[in-house]
Amino acid sequence: MNTIKRIGVLTSGGDAPGMNAAVRAVVRTALSYGIECIGIRRGWQGLITSDFVRLTSESVGHILSRGGTILYTARSKEFMTEEGRMKAVATCKMLGLDGIVAIGGDGTFRGALELSRLGIPVVGVPATIDNDVGCTNYTIGFDTACNTAIECIDKLRDTMQSHERCSVVEVMGRNAGFLALYVGIAVGATAVLVPEHKLDFQHDVVERIRESRLAGNTHFMIVVAEGVGSAVDIGHQIHEALGMDPRVTVLGHIQRGGAPNARDRETATRMGYYAVKAFAEGRGNCIIGTQEGDLVELPIEEALAMKKHLQKYRYEIMETMQFGSRVERTTV
Ligand code: F6P
Repeated sequence: MNTIKRIGVLTSGGDAPGMNAAVRAVVRTALSYGIECIGIRRGWQGLITSDFVRLTSESVGHILSRGGTILYTARSKEFMTEEGRMKAVATCKMLGLDGIVAIGGDGTFRGALELSRLGIPVVGVPATIDNDVGCTNYTIGFDTACNTAIECIDKLRDTMQSHERCSVVEVMGRNAGFLALYVGIAVGATAVLVPEHKLDFQHDVVERIRESRLAGNTHFMIVVAEGVGSAVDIGHQIHEALGMDPRVTVLGHIQRGGAPNARDRETATRMGYYAVKAFAEGRGNCIIGTQEGDLVELPIEEALAMKKHLQKYRYEIMETMQFGSRVERTTV
């Protein structure tokens, strides 16, 4: 017997392509169970300030293919305080919300845990271009962001090739190297620097560029995860060590925009659907994740304690691809 009558849905933290697809799935699944859906704008902050909009099937029409989030997003400092969370609980009571679907990353889910402890059930849907949420193999937005970065780097390669230059490209990822490593493999980078791998500049950059030059190449692509540090500094160090004049590009927020691709639309739709199904079947306080491609539901606290590591074998593949030889020193 479904006792849930009305839920809220919000997007929080950095936006990611596919968030809109998840919102649409939440609303239409809720309606199919006879549950009303209220959009909370600007993430947890909107729950504090009672910033809401009633959502209908029509109001989420034509958003499946749109990047960004129609609900806006924010990182709320106030929600980190007890006082802020009490205001959020008051909004839930005033609006008669029986639960919240929170779409975002780890920060969003830490907020979800706090709210659930105050008696408001929350189901989390992982969405961040960083793919750094421990309880799930995949987060909505990652694939589109990879493709955006690849498209940009392919263009950079054209001009680097013409001018026989070295390019240093910084990609997002916060403290994780998933985006950088996937992209680096996909563009055939000369070197990929990720925070999970302790940097040995001589081995990981200088020797790789030198080997590449000795193999006959005259342009070089170095992909740097933002968690490693500034790509500008890496560029200076390359100049000092090899006398080259690298060009540095920070891809920045462009990686967060654009229409979600097939994987992100489909994953977001499945996750949004299952988030509401969990509520409708009387389960809350969980995060929807993917394990081996299947969706799983994990209690929020357990999910937050899970760690995900950058696979060592992917780093080895990246290293092997440049020279076709086995590189022995990997410490991921
Ligand atoms: O978490 C997503 C992300 O894009 C990170 O990759 C990046 O470090 C951060 O958000 C940037 O945040 P902001 O939009 O606040 O500049």
